[in-house]
Amino acid sequence: MKKTLIALSLCLMAVSLSAQSGVQTPQLGKDNIYAIIAAMTLEDKVYLLMGLGDANWTNPSSGEKTVIVSGTAGRTWNIPRLGITPAVLSDGPAGLRIDAHPKEATHSYYCTAFPTATALASSWNTALVETVGKAMGNEVLEYGSDVLLAPAINIHRNPLCGRNFEYYSEDPLLAGKMGAAMIRGLQSNGVGASLKHFVANNIETNRTSINAVISQRALREIYLRGFEIAVKEGQPWTVMSSYNRLNGYYTSERYDLLTTVLRDEWGFKGLVMSDWWGGADAVAQMNAGNDLLMPGCNQREELLAAMRNKTIDESVLDRNISRILTFILKTPRYKGYAYSCHPDLPAHAQISRMAASESMVLLKNAQGTLPLKKVKTVALYGKTSYRFIAGGTGSGEVNYEKAISLEEALIKAGFQVSKPLAAMYTHFIDTLLANAKDDNKKQLVDFHPEMPLTNDQIQAQVHASDVAVITIGRNAGEGSDRSVSDFSLTETEKRLINDVSTAYHAVGKKVVVVLNIGGAIATSDWREEPDAILLAWQTGQEGGNAVVDMLKGAVNPSGKLPMSFPVAYSDVPSARTFPGEPSANPVTAIYDEGIYVGYRYYDTFKVPTAYEFGYGLSYTHFDYSDLTLSSSTFTGQLTVTVTVKNTGRVAGKEVVELYLSAPQSEMEKPQQELKAFAKTDLLNPGASQRISLTLDSRLLSSFQSGISTWVADKGTYEVRVGASSKDIRLTAAFEVPQSIYVEKDHNVLYPNVYFNELSRQKK
Ligand code: BGC
Repeated sequence: MKKTLIALSLCLMAVSLSAQSGVQTPQLGKDNIYAIIAAMTLEDKVYLLMGLGDANWTNPSSGEKTVIVSGTAGRTWNIPRLGITPAVLSDGPAGLRIDAHPKEATHSYYCTAFPTATALASSWNTALVETVGKAMGNEVLEYGSDVLLAPAINIHRNPLCGRNFEYYSEDPLLAGKMGAAMIRGLQSNGVGASLKHFVANNIETNRTSINAVISQRALREIYLRGFEIAVKEGQPWTVMSSYNRLNGYYTSERYDLLTTVLRDEWGFKGLVMSDWWGGADAVAQMNAGNDLLMPGCNQREELLAAMRNKTIDESVLDRNISRILTFILKTPRYKGYAYSCHPDLPAHAQISRMAASESMVLLKNAQGTLPLKKVKTVALYGKTSYRFIAGGTGSGEVNYEKAISLEEALIKAGFQVSKPLAAMYTHFIDTLLANAKDDNKKQLVDFHPEMPLTNDQIQAQVHASDVAVITIGRNAGEGSDRSVSDFSLTETEKRLINDVSTAYHAVGKKVVVVLNIGGAIATSDWREEPDAILLAWQTGQEGGNAVVDMLKGAVNPSGKLPMSFPVAYSDVPSARTFPGEPSANPVTAIYDEGIYVGYRYYDTFKVPTAYEFGYGLSYTHFDYSDLTLSSSTFTGQLTVTVTVKNTGRVAGKEVVELYLSAPQSEMEKPQQELKAFAKTDLLNPGASQRISLTLDSRLLSSFQSGISTWVADKGTYEVRVGASSKDIRLTAAFEVPQSIYVEKDHNVLYPNVYFNELSRQKK
């Protein structure tokens, strides 16, 4: 009996000890984050600091499979013992990218393809972008993801960058405002955004190693500025560091970038993750404040070895882990959200279509060719008319159910499409696809040269159709840049436009060119020929419908260019240095155009463009009047107000652009810079709206490198309000009586080589 009691009490003691230790095991959300960290083994820590990108791995502590949601980009580690749940990270900027047909699913998991970022930026409508973000974020939530790896806001430094379609603009203010709106929309669902690629990822050639050499001023004013706006106004949960080196070092290894600038100067409170396999030195990344290494691979050994060798301080790991845990606490998966796998796709398709039609830019409309009048039969030229391109390739691609073609959209809207022509193109496309390997089919038509047509073939269509519509398509994507020949139209494309225009004009019929492209192309050598040019961009799955909305006049175009369209590629300020040196296998890219990117260059150095930044036509006209400034002397803030009136015959929206010409006193300045913009409501004919835009000292200032300070120089500033960067309708001036030293920043991120930067003073 005694023996039995002793045994029982020993047993109870053991139970109570284990119960106690169970109670004492801290749990994420219940206990302080530092208590959780204290309860972690070194191995736990090293595992949590990186994801599980490899689909073959299994979590040894839970036995769980690596893949939680099929087709996502990655996930974070989970430690059930401590209540640490995983977080699922998914691409990308034009909509959620997951597997549409996961193995165990009982239904398809299609997502909505929204307009690409470049297209969305052309709307200049932050409220619209927020609405799109809200719909995208809802799909993230309902398909069980926690973070969308978007928005991507790198600057369109050169039109050949393969990922420009994923990015917004050549202007940091426009890019930053769009990025902030997208983040707000996404995160309103309780999921996270990942603002990427931080920073200066403007080249895809050798993207994981290329060294972008940039002056402090150009970095601060052009490349960092958009991120600064998006961080401050959008508060993203996460930021993704970029692949490239910046002034000698990988961005993911730069403390001065990820901590000094991002956190200390801008107040970022979230988590920084690396781009997938980005950077080279895990210890440097940890020290820099690149908290999470994605997708996670051999760096575990590297960090464990560093701990053993004492080449990293454990407190650095703890700091980064605390950010990861703070992030996990916010995720839907941690909160146990029961996702449906049934987002409202029809409602999102409507949002995508609405956004698409507000993003298209009418480049030319001679004699009011558009909207089409008395048109029954359309002759539809160009292979892309039959395979409309929804978006670019790579991680920014969405697995949508269907992208409506222009042909289908026209037929749906009651037009007839010239059948013999359609049959020729369909045969061409079908033959291409029939001869292709399966893995090559998706974008084969996009990248294949255009089908040539003889004059006889064109002539055969002319009488049987009321109008000719020619679609020119371009696609590009991650991992490589476009070539100069891709920027130009091919001889076959130019001949098509020329022959069709000649044949239709001879009988008094019109020709419309639709550009289904992801970035700027050459237009100067063919744009005189067609009567109208509609820049449809790559506007997601509803692009075809949205083009028809414009052609019919159901929607009045209101998009404006978020970048300049140069006359020739050689006019681009970075044409000489892109992608980098040595040209066969670039290692270094010297950004010697400095702050003179896009219109800042063309305007200052008086280089003509084919279509200028901010350009776009409407089916109506807008008058600008009553420009008033709240004061003629700047005292910290100034409000600019202007009236915009629809003086045409149809309802429309107008983008109002405010540029500032600063005095050339201490620092040289570009001719003008965008400082604010707004889009009017839909104004009926005769209706007007008062638009107010605010300028603060930071908007007036430039970054003076020598003293690392944002300075608004004293002198006279000209406010230029207009419909594009060249179509300035009203101007007014104000004085800054004394130079304002707006903000002193850290003297960091300087280039380690000397190079000659473009300057208007040295010209
Ligand atoms: C891209 C990122 C993307 C990541 C995950 C990388 O190659 O640069 O933009 O989010 O892959 O797919």
